[in-house]
Amino acid sequence: METANLLERPAHVPPERYLDFDIYQPLRDGLGFHESWSRLQAERKADLVWTPRNGGHWLALRGTLINQVLGEYVNFSNHTVLVPKATAGEAYRLIPLSLDPPAHAPFRNLLNTGMSPRAVKPIEDRIAALTISLIERFRRRGGCDFTTEFAEQLPITVFMSIVDLPEADTPKLKYLADQFTRPDGKMTYPEVVTMFTEYLAPIIAARRGGSGEDLITRMINGRVNDRALTDLEANNLCMQVLVGGLDTVVNFMAFVMLFMAEHPEHRRALATNPESIPGAVAELARRFPLVTVGREVTHDMEFEGVQLKAGEMVVCPTPLHGLDPTENAEPFNVDFGRPRIRHSTFGNGSHTCPGAHLARTELRIMLREWLARIPDFHVAPGHRTEFTGGIVGSVKSLRLAWDVASTQSGTEPSAGAGDPARR
Ligand code: HEM
Repeated sequence: METANLLERPAHVPPERYLDFDIYQPLRDGLGFHESWSRLQAERKADLVWTPRNGGHWLALRGTLINQVLGEYVNFSNHTVLVPKATAGEAYRLIPLSLDPPAHAPFRNLLNTGMSPRAVKPIEDRIAALTISLIERFRRRGGCDFTTEFAEQLPITVFMSIVDLPEADTPKLKYLADQFTRPDGKMTYPEVVTMFTEYLAPIIAARRGGSGEDLITRMINGRVNDRALTDLEANNLCMQVLVGGLDTVVNFMAFVMLFMAEHPEHRRALATNPESIPGAVAELARRFPLVTVGREVTHDMEFEGVQLKAGEMVVCPTPLHGLDPTENAEPFNVDFGRPRIRHSTFGNGSHTCPGAHLARTELRIMLREWLARIPDFHVAPGHRTEFTGGIVGSVKSLRLAWDVASTQSGTEPSAGAGDPARR
């Protein structure tokens, strides 16, 4: 708990910019995750406000501002991306996220080759086969716990195979990744980093000089400015990929399927016209952003009518870009024909998510195969959906139900829904 004197307003923060708001507890009055953030935006006192919580930081509340801060590394550095700066921020020195250009690019290149559309294409069949086998495990049961039986299975199994780590390690790694993105107070950030490092050290040592095709082997044996990676760099690069890959798609899928369960007309539109699924995924990414990250102010400056001081943090909730009504008309409506989609769901600028193509591919395949087999479903009667905030917002659990007679069996991937790369 932060004490009252920590909640004071610094002299350079105008009173009208002061807002007592905790980004780790964004939920309001029984509202959902996105509705809560949006309420804050609607009630905002200014586009840039200051909260005393989590060490005190600025908070960008407009889509265009979020996009600008995430992309302008000269003024807003990635040196620190998490708040509280003194604890979480200091512990999170992951690579490449904590590096600014030009240091960032050579490390980012190591990631790009293993996660590009060219790298993902050959595993699409495997993703489809796994999707189908998961669905077939519960289809005839008339219901499932979507979070544990599907969302936590598909992206994590795919991811563990990309990095070639044993599936048995998944619970431990997922727990550690969750402690980064939604800390529940059971571990400090330095403890999480130590446990990740102890886990990764023998794996990195064993794969040094190896010729395996997995992402870890490829990354740690790559060269940066014509030299090999140090052990610390290799560790921080691998940790970054694990943190980025283990939690985000799981929750993106859960938010999307909760929406689909409650919107039969959208389900029908995609089930009857699977070619529209790739475009739909772009709109769903706009509608269900999850990530909240920050930047460190590089120098004293006037910005958005206030004085920013070097070292202060500006936090950017990406939900407030895609859901900003000045950027996307009627932002809570999911419109598969939306002419122009604006969002920062996968970030902006040099740190734009390298896993975005994989995430979109998994969602596209899930929608295609699920809707071909279970075209009609709803939230299970009596189930109460709960959300949590944090660096990555989440649906705590989601139980779905359907009439078995309305489902279709089938072990072959469905046709249609190819993948033009879309935002
Ligand atoms: C729906 C799923 C996902 C969302 C919403 C998402 C969102 C984001 C965002 C907003 C950033 C930029 C952070 C910043 O600028 O500070 C980012 C970066 C990153 N993401 Fe993702 N991500 C997703 C999936 C993934 C996956 C599947 C992986 C890995 C397999 C991944 C790995 C990374 C990495 C390594 C970075 C850092 C990139 C850099 O610093 O250059 N992400 N992600």
